[in-house]
Amino acid sequence: MDPSKLPRTFSHSLCIQRGETCLTAMLVMAFEDGPGSLTELAAEFLGPLETAYFSTLRSERRQKSYLLGRYAAKLALREPLSEPNPKGVEILKGVFEQPIVHSGGKAGWGVTISHSDSLAVCLAFPAGHPFGVDVERIDQARQETILSQLSPQEIAWVESDPTDGQRVATALWASKEALSKVLTTGLMTPLHIYNLSDFSRIDSGIWEGWFQNFGQYKVRVWAGASYVFSIAMPKRSVFEPPANFCALL
Ligand SMILES: CC(C)(COP(=O)(O)OP(=O)(O)OC[C@H]1O[C@@H](n2cnc3c(N)ncnc32)[C@H](O)[C@@H]1OP(=O)(O)O)[C@@H](O)C(=O)NCCC(=O)NCCS
Repeated sequence: MDPSKLPRTFSHSLCIQRGETCLTAMLVMAFEDGPGSLTELAAEFLGPLETAYFSTLRSERRQKSYLLGRYAAKLALREPLSEPNPKGVEILKGVFEQPIVHSGGKAGWGVTISHSDSLAVCLAFPAGHPFGVDVERIDQARQETILSQLSPQEIAWVESDPTDGQRVATALWASKEALSKVLTTGLMTPLHIYNLSDFSRIDSGIWEGWFQNFGQYKVRVWAGASYVFSIAMPKRSVFEPPANFCALL
C-alpha cells in the first residue's frame, strides 16, 4: 500500500515506573485524516479472523473505527511481539467484547483501545499490568447527557471551573470509561460505582483522579482542542507522558 495513504500516527514508548522496576508499554494514536481507502487498509492489515468480523460490520462509521483501532493496535504490538507482519497479530474479542491479543505462541501482552471520530488510540501493555484508555471528542451537544451521569461531587468540580466546565465534564466521563475497560465491565453496570473520590488539575489541560470504590486504580486525563484522552492504571504506577501531549488531541 502506498505509505502516503496510511493513517497518520503518533507512537510513544512509555516507561512505567513501579518502584525500581521499569515496565515498557507502547502508545499509538492513529488519525484518519488522509486520503486512504478503508478497503485497502483492511486487506493490508487484518488477519483472517479480523477480516471475517470486519465483513459483518455494516455502518461505515463502525468500519472506520474498527480498522483505525486495529491499525493502532498492530503498530503498538509490533515491537513488543517482534512481529513485523501485521496479519501475524490478531486482536479478537473476549466474552465481554474486551480486546484479546492472539499472536501464534507469543503471549504476555494486552491492549486497550478507544476510538472517537477520526482518532483511535491503543495502549499495548505487559498483561500483568492492566490499563484502560478512553478518548472522547469535546462536544457541547453531549454536555447535558454527561452531566446527567455525574455524581453531585463531580458536578461541583465541573461548576467550580466555569471557563473549562465542558472539558472537565468530558474528562470525568472519560475517566469512568477508562476504568470500566480495565475492569472489563464496560458501561453494562450501574455507573455510580465508577464515581471519583478526588479529581485535581495538575497542569493546564491535565488532571489526575482517584475512585471511590476502586482504590487500587487512578486515572490521568489530558485535554486538547478537540479530544480528551484518559488512561486508568494501577495507583502506584508512574510514567512520563510525551512532551506537548495535549497538543496532539
Ligand atoms: C467498553 C465500552 C465502555 C466502550 O465504550 P465506547 O464509547 O463504545 O467505545 P470506545 O471507542 O471508547 O471503546 C471501544 C473499544 O473498547 C474495547 N472494549 C469493548 N468492550 C470492552 C470491555 N468489556 N472491556 C474492555 N475493553 C472493551 C474494544 O476494544 C472496543 O473497540 P473494538 O470493538 O474496535 O475492539 C462500551 O462498549 C461498553 O460498555 N461495553 C460493554 C460490552 C459488554 O459488556 N458486552 C457484553 C456482551 S453484551
